[in-house]
Amino acid sequence: MTFPIFRTVAALRAQVAVWRGQGLRVALVPTMGALHDGHLTLVRQGLKKADRVVASVFVNPTQFGPNEDFAAYPRREAEDAALLAGAGASGLYAPSVTEMYPSGFATTISVAGVSEGLCGTVRPGHFAGVATVVTKLLLQAGPDLALFGEKDYQQLQVIRRVVRDLDLPVQIEGVPTVREADGLALSSRNAYLTPEQRAIAPALHGVLTALAERLAAGETAAVLTAWGRDQLLAAGFDSVDYLEVRAAEGLAPLERRSEPARILVAARLGKARLIDNIPA
Ligand code: PAJ
Repeated sequence: MTFPIFRTVAALRAQVAVWRGQGLRVALVPTMGALHDGHLTLVRQGLKKADRVVASVFVNPTQFGPNEDFAAYPRREAEDAALLAGAGASGLYAPSVTEMYPSGFATTISVAGVSEGLCGTVRPGHFAGVATVVTKLLLQAGPDLALFGEKDYQQLQVIRRVVRDLDLPVQIEGVPTVREADGLALSSRNAYLTPEQRAIAPALHGVLTALAERLAAGETAAVLTAWGRDQLLAAGFDSVDYLEVRAAEGLAPLERRSEPARILVAARLGKARLIDNIPA
């Protein structure tokens, strides 16, 4: 049987309604395509908790800034469909830009607080673009469950906030970051790295790991993040957008060392802007 690709909201809803009629649980994995094992892990995780998994591939124009890589972002639908079929997904939702944003589209979901700071500072409007498209995807598919990676930790927090605030009837599942053997988080944007830059990139995870250990040993976040920035620049990164320790839930500045924390970083290396985070 050929792998189903749904191009319209109506086609997607018709299929989900059939599954619902059969009493099946449905999971959605939203992506922008150029799929790698991180994305496929979300699909496999979805299959443990649901009977059917649909992935969406939509390179969402509204979450890219004017000087970002929307045009260059890799698009390879046939390969993605084959990978999804191999991972056990039951279909691909791949709407066009006009299906998602028909002429006259005028609504934006913007999330205060958790969207601010970190990536929100460097990428103004990014999380409003994400929150709007994810809300639409959730309403279009109507899944029981949707899975997101901790790799994009601030994004996961923004989505959890939207779902709570708007009472969206869906369970959000966060999945730990899938990494290469040398620690580099899998990302579609790793393709932008030259071999020399690829050799530098694992320093991002290395520095986060060292920071978590030293934080646990009692050193202060301010001293450590200054040290971490220097380490990244010395390793060969061109610049560091941010390196911060935040509260793991909601990402507010850390008030007590005893609460669960997250160390988050974004740094630039050639054409790539790499992000990563770990618990602390
Ligand atoms: P994209 O970058 O394609 O990522 C799709 C999903 O895969 C996200 O939930 C992301 O966190 C997860 N992911 C990416 N790399 C991962 C890794 N190494 N380990 C685990 N999970 C990983 O994030 C987006 O697309 C978009 O912003 C989207 C949510 C689809 C809205 O447009």
